[in-house]
Amino acid sequence: MAFPPMQPAADADQARQHTYHDGTSRTVQVSEREIPYPEGRLIISRTDLNGVLTHANDAFIELSGYTREELIGQPHAILRHPDMPRAAFKDLWDTMKAGKKWHGYVKNLRKDGSHYWVYATAVPNIRNGQTVGYTSVRRKPSRKKIEELSAVYKEWKAAEGST
Ligand SMILES: Cc1cc2nc3c(=O)[nH]c(=O)nc-3n(C[C@H](O)[C@H](O)[C@H](O)COP(=O)(O)O)c2cc1C
Repeated sequence: MAFPPMQPAADADQARQHTYHDGTSRTVQVSEREIPYPEGRLIISRTDLNGVLTHANDAFIELSGYTREELIGQPHAILRHPDMPRAAFKDLWDTMKAGKKWHGYVKNLRKDGSHYWVYATAVPNIRNGQTVGYTSVRRKPSRKKIEELSAVYKEWKAAEGST
């Protein structure tokens, strides 16, 4: 995948190599800095059947750190944080392909290398009985869940090996 370049902040000092599902890889610069989910806002995006972004609301744009022009047309994996295990996204995609609703906690990577946690609900968009794309709406996750899922994802990630 050929994403627009990140713009790492001074504290994004860990270089992490990540291989995407299409076999391409890139080095992302990450920091430990967490940006709190903005109070009272919904973060919304839509994708086509391949997970390519077709719509992002203002809250999504602001929190990601990218411009709308940089995001639309890119695979959603542009926000993929290297701490996220593959199993979480496999579950999301299996659920989407089965035409069902998915809920889950996601740690997303910002353009500056910091991150934010969301509680996401993703659904297939169905028109005349056909799935035409997918929508995800995010809410603020509780601190307790963020801590719980950080530990769970660390274990899954370790079990998956270094990819
Ligand atoms: C509606 C929808 C929303 C998604 N939201 C995110 C997201 O916020 N962050 C993310 O990393 N992946 C998200 N994904 C999953 C990506 O498509 C992709 O599977 C994931 O980033 C892992 O990519 P990779 O396997 O190429 O590394 C979303 C997928 C769909 C269909």
